[in-house]
Amino acid sequence: MQTIILLGAPGAGKGTLAERVRDVAHYTHVSTGDMLRAAVKAGTPTGLEAKRYMEAGELVPDAVIMRLVEERLARDGDGKYMFDGFPRTDAQAVMLDEVLARAGAKVDKVFLLDVPQDVIVGRISGRRVCRKCGAVYHVANIPPKVEGVCDQCGGELYQRADDCEATVLNRLEVYNRQTAGLIDFYNKKGVLVRIDASASPKATADAMLELLG
Ligand code: AP5
Repeated sequence: MQTIILLGAPGAGKGTLAERVRDVAHYTHVSTGDMLRAAVKAGTPTGLEAKRYMEAGELVPDAVIMRLVEERLARDGDGKYMFDGFPRTDAQAVMLDEVLARAGAKVDKVFLLDVPQDVIVGRISGRRVCRKCGAVYHVANIPPKVEGVCDQCGGELYQRADDCEATVLNRLEVYNRQTAGLIDFYNKKGVLVRIDASASPKATADAMLELLG
């Protein structure tokens, strides 16, 4: 089993990079944000519980997240995993270590995506997502060929509910308060690699792929 983590502020580009790395290096992409949005859309008990935290830009409780991740790992089994947006608290990181240790595995590499805060706010405010297939665009940086329409499936593009300005500022605050401590956690373990993610998605993904060998 091989495990890498994409760590970075909201809007740093984790999902965008994950898609590229998944397609080239064949990792299973595990995004807790995507899993939660699917649960909210399906109206499952997990989705109903998570919705109010997500809309406020707060973190969903650790127990809910760990249940989702463990179910996912149990379903997919041994393999190459790329976590995006997980772990987000010290408790999640410790629990992930325990889950991996039971499978004889460990966290192999953590990519810290470095992007200045003003760039991040611009990325989030221009983000558009396909309602049908989940493909991610940006009105200026990565525009679709036809405004409002997904290049891949023709689905309608929309703005995420938690991408409004007030929620974004809280998400950044929550990141600094509850998640940024993981930089130190993984640095001490010697697995943290800092990546300049202010370049284009292709240049950043290529730098990551080179480090993955
Ligand atoms: P989640 O979906 O994980 O959101 P996030 O971490 O806030 O990250 P984002 O999805 O906003 O951004 P991203 O880094 O993936 O950037 P993207 O590639 O889209 O979580 C949502 C919520 O769920 C949380 O607030 C929380 O409530 C809950 N949650 C999830 N996981 C949890 C956990 N583990 N514990 C507790 N709660 C949890 O890019 C952003 C934009 O920039 C796009 O428009 C893109 O096109 C553009 N862009 C990307 N890269 C570039 C580039 N290099 N150059 C130019 N533009 C770019």
